[in-house]
Amino acid sequence: MMSPTLYTAIWILCCLVPSRGGFFSNLPGFKKFKNCVNPSRECPNPNITFHLYTRITDDYVLNYSSTESLKQAPFITNASIKLLIHGYTGHKNYSPNTELRPEYLKYQDLNVISVDYKELVQPPCYVQAVYNVPLVGKCTNKFLQKLFRVREDLKLFHLHVIGFSLGAQVAGHVGRLMNSSIERVTGLDPASPMFSEFWFNNEVLDKSDAKFVDVLHTNIGLKGKISPLGHLDFYANNGCKQPGCTDTSCSHVRAVEYFAESINTKKPFMAVKCLSYVLYKLGWCKPSDTSPLIVFGEHVDKTRTSIENQRR
Ligand SMILES: *[C@@H]1O[C@H](CO)[C@@H](O)[C@H](O)[C@H]1NC(C)=O
Ligand SMILES: *[C@@H]1O[C@H](CO)[C@@H](O)[C@H](O)[C@H]1NC(C)=O
Ligand SMILES: *[C@@H]1O[C@H](CO)[C@@H](O)[C@H](O)[C@H]1NC(C)=O
Ligand SMILES: *[C@@H]1O[C@H](CO)[C@@H](O)[C@H](O)[C@H]1NC(C)=O
Repeated sequence: MMSPTLYTAIWILCCLVPSRGGFFSNLPGFKKFKNCVNPSRECPNPNITFHLYTRITDDYVLNYSSTESLKQAPFITNASIKLLIHGYTGHKNYSPNTELRPEYLKYQDLNVISVDYKELVQPPCYVQAVYNVPLVGKCTNKFLQKLFRVREDLKLFHLHVIGFSLGAQVAGHVGRLMNSSIERVTGLDPASPMFSEFWFNNEVLDKSDAKFVDVLHTNIGLKGKISPLGHLDFYANNGCKQPGCTDTSCSHVRAVEYFAESINTKKPFMAVKCLSYVLYKLGWCKPSDTSPLIVFGEHVDKTRTSIENQRR
């Protein structure tokens, strides 16, 4: 297991020059404001809604208070279900929905469900948004339980939960509440502020949350978590600052953009196991028999979990 000190050292090495837009204090909403929505802890919650998209359905509202609504929902049966969870300041037509939904529907005749909890993550209420994460996880779990109970034609093993930023932390909660029965959870640059080892350690997405947890890091130490969280963690372009980006939001959302591109691309994104970007730059991390180049993104090789385990 790598120590937090080592992560910090790696972070200092690769993020020494903070990009414009910089550190936590600059993040919008790093203060608690009086007018932030502190919702009731009840599910169903009118401020947490679920929307189905397929090649022939655009935004069917899955009202899980109504068994009829779920029974009649125009799902593609026996097909993959991609559950997308936005983050802070997001909604159903915001990252990762806008990037991933069209790519998935182009890729296959499958079901995309977008979770929308816009009212609970309004700026400048980041702190309140973090407190709302467990509630969104709880209601999403209740929704899924009911959905799979009502619809026998939908299979839990087809479910893949994908969360961006704060949504990745929601995905962790969902996975935990589903007792790790979900096949795959993907965290796209999981949110870091207030999800440190010192704050809510138990609440952070980790590999116990699903059968397979893969994580793509693009803005470590700033908006995204630095430490490996899943069975397989990828640090794109050192995981810190992405090419062509001058602010942290740009690097952060690249996680979504790379993942979206990975769905249909003919040129897969490849990664090699390495202890740090510095060692990689020094040429110490060549692909080998024990540490081959592997694909990341949608078509990741799920049998490759040992790679991360060896590294840690
Ligand atoms: C939903 O959000 C609104 C703010 O837009 C808030 O006034 C209301 O209390 C919230 N309702 C629940 C049940 O959380
Ligand atoms: C959801 O279904 C319940 C029960 O049928 C109903 O009372 C409620 O108005 C519905 N909500 C929406 C947003 O349609
Ligand atoms: C469901 O899909 C699987 C592949 O994912 C296929 O093997 C199986 O035959 C399908 N079942 C039905 C009833 O279509
Ligand atoms: C998870 O386990 C708890 C405690 O054993 C149980 O109450 C709950 O129904 C389980 N949930 C699922 C999705 O299996």
